[in-house]
Amino acid sequence: DAVERGEYRHYMQKEIFEQPRAVSDTLEARINAQGVLPNIFGVNGDELLAKVKGLHIIACGTSYHAGMVAKYWIEEYARLPVSVEVASEYRYREAVVPEGTLFIAISQSGETADTLAAMRESRRRGYLGTLAICNVPESSVVREADLKLMTRAGPEIGVASTKAFTTQLSALALLTLHLAKQRGLDTARYNDLCAQLLHMPRSIDDALKLEPQIIELAERFVHRHHALFLGRGAHYPVALEGSLKLKEISYIHAEAYPAGELKHGPLALVDEDMPVIAVAPNGPLLDKLKSNLQEVRARGGELIVFADTTAHIDGNATRGVILRIDAGGEFIAPAVFTVPLQLLAYHVAVLRGTDVDQPRNLAKSVTVE
Ligand code: G6P
Repeated sequence: DAVERGEYRHYMQKEIFEQPRAVSDTLEARINAQGVLPNIFGVNGDELLAKVKGLHIIACGTSYHAGMVAKYWIEEYARLPVSVEVASEYRYREAVVPEGTLFIAISQSGETADTLAAMRESRRRGYLGTLAICNVPESSVVREADLKLMTRAGPEIGVASTKAFTTQLSALALLTLHLAKQRGLDTARYNDLCAQLLHMPRSIDDALKLEPQIIELAERFVHRHHALFLGRGAHYPVALEGSLKLKEISYIHAEAYPAGELKHGPLALVDEDMPVIAVAPNGPLLDKLKSNLQEVRARGGELIVFADTTAHIDGNATRGVILRIDAGGEFIAPAVFTVPLQLLAYHVAVLRGTDVDQPRNLAKSVTVE
């Protein structure tokens, strides 16, 4: 194999541990303490972005989850409307494109058939322009886009995407900051968000140190058939990504819900056989999430909570496990909280003895429709 596994048992584990480097490579020469540098999206990129009135993000799989996080970020900090859609849905419907909308395709490979077809279709639909966020410079998606921002994850071999996701989030965070500054985000707030982003590699590095605890935790899942992931706000897509990782490589049926939807259905499934994994970073929604967790506990569900080091969550009261993470700030928390979920899926799959890097029925790049 051209890419070595080195000391790691699987490519996926190696790629999980490469994330601090992959993220810092993606940020390199694009942002410094003063802010995002000019024209990182290509020639005349800043001019085009200044005209943007809204964004449509299109992607598949894990890349789609990155797009969902970006919606929360861009709407909050740049105050621009964002819609996110899976490419296979977008391309077959008559989407309405408001004037001044930027089309964004997110793809690790740049060759996913539906994403590429969606991008080609977008040409007929009157967008302001197209932006590709991609990991492969010579790919079709990159070649056909007006603007591009490359993730610099390096080759990703494991079918289950890991470092592609966190580098996509890094690229989308740069886009968010760029748009936010152009649209007059308060300087102190902008500086704080830049500092958080620059700190992301170190926060991810810290999160990786949870591996021994996660190996222990993985034992609880080996004989399970189902799992439920909960998150709120920008951590709902993180819950989706955690559940996708688990189902892809361990073949355990997993679902993700925005925690507020719990009582509209999934609560009926909660009993002692259904572990519930909650992503609980600090933020205005923490108290709401805690009351969702009470609902799980009251039904005898086993809770596994990933919480900020400073979050006030009573360990005994969860009747489960709390793992503490220092997210390094609310903005970058979705990227940091994803890491332990990747590790959890990985170690559950290892214990179950599945083919981690090449899970059954799945392909790394889906170039057929
Ligand atoms: C496949 C892969 C996923 C990936 C998705 C989108 O399903 O198994 O890991 O997220 O395609 O791929 P892309 O290359 O477009 O990001």
